[in-house]
Amino acid sequence: MRVLMISPGFPADMPRFTRALASVGAEVIGLGDQPAEALPAMARHTLSDHVHVGMLWDEDAVIAELLKHPAAREVDRVECLWEPGMMLAARIRETLELPGLDTAKTLPFRDKEAMKQVLDEAGIRTPKHARARSEKQRREAAEKIGYPLVIKPIAGAGSADTHVVSEATDLDTVLERCAHVDEVSVEEFIDGEEYTYDTITAEGKILYYNISWYRPRPLIARSVESLSPQTICLREVDSEDLGAGRAMGRAVIDAMGFETGFTHMEWFKTSEGEAVFGEIGGRPPGACSVEIMNYAEDADLFLSWAEAIVFGRCLSGRSERLYNAAVVFKRAEGSGRIRKIEGLDDLLAHHGDQIMEVALLSVGQKRRDWMQTLLSDGYLILRDAELDATLALADKIGSELRLFAE
Ligand SMILES: Nc1ncnc2c1ncn2[C@@H]1O[C@H](COP(=O)(O)OP(=O)(O)O)[C@@H](O)[C@H]1O
Ligand SMILES: [Mg+2]
Repeated sequence: MRVLMISPGFPADMPRFTRALASVGAEVIGLGDQPAEALPAMARHTLSDHVHVGMLWDEDAVIAELLKHPAAREVDRVECLWEPGMMLAARIRETLELPGLDTAKTLPFRDKEAMKQVLDEAGIRTPKHARARSEKQRREAAEKIGYPLVIKPIAGAGSADTHVVSEATDLDTVLERCAHVDEVSVEEFIDGEEYTYDTITAEGKILYYNISWYRPRPLIARSVESLSPQTICLREVDSEDLGAGRAMGRAVIDAMGFETGFTHMEWFKTSEGEAVFGEIGGRPPGACSVEIMNYAEDADLFLSWAEAIVFGRCLSGRSERLYNAAVVFKRAEGSGRIRKIEGLDDLLAHHGDQIMEVALLSVGQKRRDWMQTLLSDGYLILRDAELDATLALADKIGSELRLFAE
């Protein structure tokens, strides 16, 4: 099978997916705005060819350039695990008459209002919602939906430009803050815990699924610098209290008509136990999520994804989940360069068997912008068979591991 992989070098996990495709026997051709020599070695060494285009987002120009390439007509599949490239992938499929999501099926993955309309029609519980462009439309939508509500970009990511409006008197301030966003989704605010439902699917059949729990809720994690956000990949994905989310997850895959690949859904669990839809991406979750899923069951989900693409099933199968696995993101105190890391030796001395990875910035390195990247100033990955112990250690890493910058 010959697979055209869009953006094989970026974001971070793409070289691993690219390598996995090659490792199950696919011939992989890259397509991206990075020249072949600038690609990470892992991607460069596994690609049999690479189509270097000027601007990845000028879809017409990219398709024209691709068609000039001799290998283009021999491609069997087009894959893109980076959300902004999903529409380009769909257009290439349509041009080359290839299987996989077309533009009509891709649009609801990229437009949060179209997404919820599809799901409403399937009877799935979404927050009350409305699309709005002008200030007038935003005010009317707020009036219709009531308070508290959320205003967020129609195609946002990473909680950017997402605001809660608690009551009518806060609306003016928030409207001003998101005035630069062309089109927004105005939504009923859902109070609850936030979880994911991630799958590897082939021809609409779910071959693998995962549920992770965000601690705290992403919007809070993005508003309070001093905390250390956690994603907890749960061992007991089949537990009763997550049943409503699992059922919703399956129904959403069906309603969206997703075919083959990775999906990443987010949902809320209210205090009454009701599941409410959040959003879905036709791509894997980011920010180390696939890594912690691998740690939860000693799996290689990069490989499982590639098997789903090439063979339509996961040959490596689903292993038993023996652990909860978590990633804890750290933010330094102060600005500038990292000067001191405190508490790490102690944590490793006491919890060395639970801590799987330490990926903090080193002393002397410049702090990252925590608002721009959830990775912040680095992270630790841990795992434990017991959920309580997992949470306790994640919290301990949150409070006792400290990075100082100046
Ligand atoms: N209707 C809502 N009710 C409560 N919180 C919300 C709602 N919509 C978004 N949020 C908060 O904002 C975060 C980001 O919103 P989301 O729709 O997931 O967009 P993004 O693509 O930025 O992740 C969510 O994880 C949640 O914390
Ligand atoms: Mg989200």
